[in-house]
Amino acid sequence: MDLFEYQARDLFEANSIPVLKALVATTPAQAKAAAEEIGGKVVVKAQVKVGGRGKAGGVKLAENGDDAYAKAEAILGMDIKGHIVKKVMIAAAAPIESEYYLAILLDRSNRSFLVMASASGGMDIEEVAHKAPEKLAKVHVNPDEGIDEAKALEIVRRGGFGSDVEKQVADVLVTLWRTFQSSDATLVEVNPLVKTVDGRVIALDGKVTLDENAAFRHPDYEGLIDHDAADPLEALAKARDLNYVKLKGQVGVIGNGAGLVMSTLDVVAYAGERFGGVKPANFLDIGGGASAAVMADGLSIILGDKEVKSVLVNVFGGITSCDAVAKGIVQALEILGDKASKPIVVRLDGNNVLEGRAILNQANHPLIEQVDSMDGAASRAAELAAR
Ligand SMILES: Nc1ncnc2c1ncn2[C@@H]1O[C@H](COP(=O)(O)OP(=O)(O)O)[C@@H](O)[C@H]1O
Ligand SMILES: [Mg+2]
Repeated sequence: MDLFEYQARDLFEANSIPVLKALVATTPAQAKAAAEEIGGKVVVKAQVKVGGRGKAGGVKLAENGDDAYAKAEAILGMDIKGHIVKKVMIAAAAPIESEYYLAILLDRSNRSFLVMASASGGMDIEEVAHKAPEKLAKVHVNPDEGIDEAKALEIVRRGGFGSDVEKQVADVLVTLWRTFQSSDATLVEVNPLVKTVDGRVIALDGKVTLDENAAFRHPDYEGLIDHDAADPLEALAKARDLNYVKLKGQVGVIGNGAGLVMSTLDVVAYAGERFGGVKPANFLDIGGGASAAVMADGLSIILGDKEVKSVLVNVFGGITSCDAVAKGIVQALEILGDKASKPIVVRLDGNNVLEGRAILNQANHPLIEQVDSMDGAASRAAELAAR
């Protein structure tokens, strides 16, 4: 889970990483009030989970409260790389002398953690990494050893930091490591870390990614979720423990097993080419235990997608046999009643397939159509969606 800058700033503050005073606003009036509370010059910053806000015009200096009002009015609602700005952060403006770069991340390919540090930070760190890689120190960290004072100082020196700030930056790095570890992050990035004209070292921008697999030991993660951003159908699916991903298409897909569902998406997209470019509407893996309740949940989520014109249920009976799945489908349609209104093509194969097909035949539901092969079923579902 990626955090907004203001959430990263809060995390930094809670871990004693030096940050500036800041407040969040969702309206220009709130931005003005925030600027007046902070006092002096402020920076109005778009809160979107994407980099390069500065260059996109999403970070603006404001002289006072009225100016902050105007700047917030310009930034709120702005589209930055496909992200609409709904919040701004009003932060005290720092008198910047130098901009630095500091990051710790999980380096999966090397099965280790990586620290990156450079005294040439700011908005163009990618360019530094590309054109002058020697200015960006990259140092692996053994998770058992971590980063102590000595290690931090060594990294900071390799990053080209001057003796005037190396002690302060090393302290920030040690604290950043503790923050990274204790919050179960996979990324903490400070860009820029700055030196002010009066010699203070402060984190001006923070990017943090938390490892959702560790959520069970961080009850506070829950409060960091951006509920606005989640697709409503995906949120519903998550609440019901379903592996669902919304796609842009017209054929709803339900299958058991991630591999089977993925190949079903391919087969539907391929068949759809013959029917005006019909595409799969989602990924939904109902897993091994395709009970009636799970099938009903899955179907109701898919049928709730306005784009969906037909549904393809593709099940290969294994531990859960086809007759159990067939019963699940019949019961699910009973549960859904009138809410089920789109044609459903069912392809069953594998364990107890004949019993499963017989159950569906007997139910004789007007929405259900059985097709025995995967290609045939995908083609029929695409055809129905194209009508
Ligand atoms: N509080 C601040 N005071 C002064 N300048 C700032 C402040 N915050 C950001 N800036 C300036 O704006 C630039 C871009 O802001 P930043 O927060 O890094 O956004 P992004 O990385 O998305 O472009 C920074 O490199 C810095 O020069
Ligand atoms: Mg930045």
